[in-house]
Amino acid sequence: MIITLSSLKGGSGKSTLAIHLAHAIAQSNRRVLLVDADPQGSAQGWASAREDKPPFTVIGMARNTLHRDLPDISQDYDHVLIDTPPRVSALARTAILAADLVLIPVQPSSYDVWAASETVTLIDEAKGFKPDIKAAFVINRRIPNTVIGRDVEEALSEYEIPTLKQAIAQRVAFSEASSGYTVMEMSATSSASKEIGKLVKEVLSLMEVKSW
Ligand SMILES: Nc1ncnc2c1ncn2[C@@H]1O[C@H](COP(=O)(O)OP(=O)(O)OP(=O)(O)O)[C@@H](O)[C@H]1O
Ligand SMILES: [Mg+2]
Repeated sequence: MIITLSSLKGGSGKSTLAIHLAHAIAQSNRRVLLVDADPQGSAQGWASAREDKPPFTVIGMARNTLHRDLPDISQDYDHVLIDTPPRVSALARTAILAADLVLIPVQPSSYDVWAASETVTLIDEAKGFKPDIKAAFVINRRIPNTVIGRDVEEALSEYEIPTLKQAIAQRVAFSEASSGYTVMEMSATSSASKEIGKLVKEVLSLMEVKSW
């Protein structure tokens, strides 16, 4: 399965979620490839900041032909995650076209909800070529018990794309993770790790649903 993290809004959490989903899937004994298709190279930077090898393979591949090349490159892997740049670009398009599932991280702010419409347009365009691409919003940096947290779900329900039940909260552990280790490596039992675990379960179970 190929999961692309896509959002034209900068800083919404694409790289953070791509890295954490990659690790969480790898923890269940699956071979995982993380493709860094963002010329900023955040995922590659994350991997090279570590002293040891990451628990999954990370490669840089900011190529406009990802959708064509990935089936061959990913043959040895069970799951592929693609991290993408925050711009309408050939790279953003090829990464969506390559996907079985596109996850769109959205922060609880009106700016992010408005910006989501551009990402949705890109996905709709890609569906013209590949109708079975699935897509879902993931709320990231949720601040518990806030009005804006609840409002964002309602605002997103205006789109045809569903919102995953499991949101990811705003947590220091996630910003610390940018220095090369996932929240699971820092503490397997933290709230952040538990959230990622539940998110992965939801994502994998969604992929088993034929139509949605
Ligand atoms: N749930 C979270 N809690 C706290 N900090 C977070 C969370 N998610 C992301 N961050 C932090 O927010 C910043 C932006 O996140 P990230 O780099 O993952 O976004 P992005 O969508 O990949 O950005 P870009 O569009 O520039 O590629 C990073 O510093 C990251 O550590
Ligand atoms: Mg990024």
